[in-house]
Amino acid sequence: MNIDFSFQNPTRIHFGKTAMSHLAEELNEFGPNVLLVYGKNSVKKSGLYDQVTEVLHACGKKVAELPGINANPRYTQVLEGARLARENRCDLILAVGGGSVVDCAKAISVAAHCEGDPWTRFWEQHETPDHPIVPVGCILTMTGTASEMNSGSVITHEEKRLKLGRVFPLAEVTPKFSILNPEFTFTVPTYQMVSGIFDIFSHLMEQYFSGDDDCVSDYLLEGDMLALISAARKAIRNPLDYEARSNIMWCATMGLNKILALSKTQDWEVHMIEHQLGAYTDCAHGIGLAIISVPYYRHIHKYGLHRFVRYAQNVWHVQPEGKTEEQIALEGIQCLSDFIAEMGIPQTLREVGATEEMLPLIAETTVKCGGYHVPDTAEVLDILKACY
Ligand code: NZQ
Ligand code: ZN
Repeated sequence: MNIDFSFQNPTRIHFGKTAMSHLAEELNEFGPNVLLVYGKNSVKKSGLYDQVTEVLHACGKKVAELPGINANPRYTQVLEGARLARENRCDLILAVGGGSVVDCAKAISVAAHCEGDPWTRFWEQHETPDHPIVPVGCILTMTGTASEMNSGSVITHEEKRLKLGRVFPLAEVTPKFSILNPEFTFTVPTYQMVSGIFDIFSHLMEQYFSGDDDCVSDYLLEGDMLALISAARKAIRNPLDYEARSNIMWCATMGLNKILALSKTQDWEVHMIEHQLGAYTDCAHGIGLAIISVPYYRHIHKYGLHRFVRYAQNVWHVQPEGKTEEQIALEGIQCLSDFIAEMGIPQTLREVGATEEMLPLIAETTVKCGGYHVPDTAEVLDILKACY
């Protein structure tokens, strides 16, 4: 553990079939005014909306609502939510939905009492908010992002054609509580389920493919990857398998609540490319990540060969006998590619609506970071062309 760290995660997690029974006690911790934020249709269709509003009313809450949050939430929705939170003097923002709804709720929480333009200040200039932040609570319906237990908020600015993530360095932005009932994810369509599964896998790989030291976080990341591969295969065979869906849900939360990243340098370039792909195509986040990952890792494996060899052996059980390190590493990446195909995920950018003209624009506007290697615009363009 060569890199020093301070760690705190303030989210109270209520996990399992009875998790909702904790909602009332959580709501009672906050004042009377609540902004209820949710997505397009799913929470009303599943009956969860009725369940939640019943508890809110039983707790005597005055509720304002912001429905219709898009997958890949829009900045205009953040501003609308901030206005509602301000005008209704909200004491709590309750997000009911997937990562997009939770991310939007967090963005509203920092935008509500902000002077000036929150997008410029917090997503572009990375200022730290120094004004009051409205607390956020979460009832999760789709798993993948870990937004339920982190301080990240990824927002799309449609006019600027930018999708930018911000990880706020403040415990106040992290949800105060999150209710995680795996049964709420049973209604998620297969396409979204596999998108969420790959999002988790990508978070684990982004944290894993960097660093040279012997670090406990890398062993934990391998463990989470193994658990996820096993649970994903079961959930694809039977989406109503509670054991599998609950394991996926916890793999997700653990995957990006910062614990597995402690004392590690990290990569995150696949996410940077996907975010701009999303800004241009509005594709499902995890699907975009899956398409980009294989050509990206084929491109960078030579810069961190030892780690790709370890990944191939420890995650995909590639047998090393009679093979060069290069062959072992590439076999591991091929196993990843096969796993993506096994989950029925599209493997080309065309399938998510990208056009050839978009590729240079995406490459140019992508934030360049990287772990073992930081690609430039020309390399990002090559990676995009390789999966077009
Ligand atoms: O809008 P509704 O009708 O609710 O439908 C949603 C949406 O269309 C549907 N859905 C959610 N729960 C459902 C359900 N459908 C049926 N039954 C249910 N129980 O699923 C669709 C996708 O939902 P969304 O919230 O967009 O998915 P996800 O959780 O994958 O979130 C993706 C967003 O999170 C960002 C992504 O970039 C993307 O904008 N990320 C956030 C991160 C963070 N906060 O740390 C990190 C991630 O890397 C990621 O970037
Ligand atoms: Zn992600």
